[in-house]
Amino acid sequence: MKLNAAKAVLVLLGYKDLREDKNLNWNTFFRPNINNMEAYQPGLREEQIRELVEVDQIYKLSSNESPLPPFLAALDAMQGALQGLNEYPDGSGYHMTKTISEHYGVPAENICCGNGTNEILTLIAKTCLTAGSNVVYGWPSFIVYRYSAQLMDVQFREVPLLDNGAYNLESLLAAIDDKTKLVYVCTPNNPTGACVSHADLASFIQRVPEDVLIVLDAAYEEFVTDLEAARTLDLFKDTINSLDKHAVVVLRTFSKIYALAGIRAGYAFAPTMLVQAINKIREPFNVNSLAQLAAAASLQDTTELNRRQELNKNCRERLQACFAELGLRYLPSQANYVWVDIPNPQQAFEFLLKRGIIVRSFAAAGGLRIGVGDEAGTASTIAAFKELLR
Ligand SMILES: Cc1ncc(COP(=O)(O)O)c(C=O)c1O
Repeated sequence: MKLNAAKAVLVLLGYKDLREDKNLNWNTFFRPNINNMEAYQPGLREEQIRELVEVDQIYKLSSNESPLPPFLAALDAMQGALQGLNEYPDGSGYHMTKTISEHYGVPAENICCGNGTNEILTLIAKTCLTAGSNVVYGWPSFIVYRYSAQLMDVQFREVPLLDNGAYNLESLLAAIDDKTKLVYVCTPNNPTGACVSHADLASFIQRVPEDVLIVLDAAYEEFVTDLEAARTLDLFKDTINSLDKHAVVVLRTFSKIYALAGIRAGYAFAPTMLVQAINKIREPFNVNSLAQLAAAASLQDTTELNRRQELNKNCRERLQACFAELGLRYLPSQANYVWVDIPNPQQAFEFLLKRGIIVRSFAAAGGLRIGVGDEAGTASTIAAFKELLR
């Protein structure tokens, strides 16, 4: 008792370590693979930036978010649903699934909705990865492929990208062996913005062993303007509408072009058996009520979608033209961000930050990933780069 009182005093004085002094040995108590994992490092928040630099306008171009607010239809739908938040969401995601199904012409039993695509990636790993199996994907790419493999304690094989920043499909095939359960193709790839071609991906799918699940991450596909680039939905339909024995999953999100990153809504087109397996392990109410309504409302507004595609394309081209003019090597992008090589990424990152422009630095890879902003964000980014290289 006395000891506890003494401890309490010390805790009040700020000796936090004593409060954390439990009798468990955490190092052996946790599942061993957790000790080897790192927590996801989110980018700087606007308030943090304001503490560091004095600028009127901040352009957050570091997380591939939309520079625009959600679609008006989505805002209206969410506003109208606030009064009903006393009830749990529809655990079957009926309306959202039906809307996606009708919009894309995919049966509802082949659609799985998630609390962001991120959740679906984790759910796929949890349902499929068994001890001793491995996963294959390109690198650098989306970090969650690695995290979900680490979570399931399986080997992950990271295959270098092609020089243009696209996945090297031949190298992926070479890395697959009889223990491989998942192969991921991110197109357009994050962080490089490059796509694999439709023809190459179609031929790749045919050459992947039939006992491997092919996960096509198309989080940025709505931004694609290259007619040769992979159309993942068509490839998915090819595999379910034919006797093709390959199993393909396509991942899509409402976080990017639909500007709903903050409410968390993603979905997948997947074989029925996988949707059913995921339904067994997902949280019963994994997609919140507002997200379900906002997602469905956004999908129906194709005019606004086209407007945003056009805006992104124009600003992306202006950004790329600026890099070309400044003699910087950049990777032609099909997404809402552009990869640019820069001699000292961290220094460039700080220079831009002081001007209110937040980008993502990949110091080890020698480059920056710059989100495509709106008109004003693009103009400010271009001005800052010109100043940087002067
Ligand atoms: C390639 C890729 N896939 C999936 C996601 C996850 O998207 P969300 O969980 O917001 O739907 C992201 C997010 O940045 C991404 O870059």
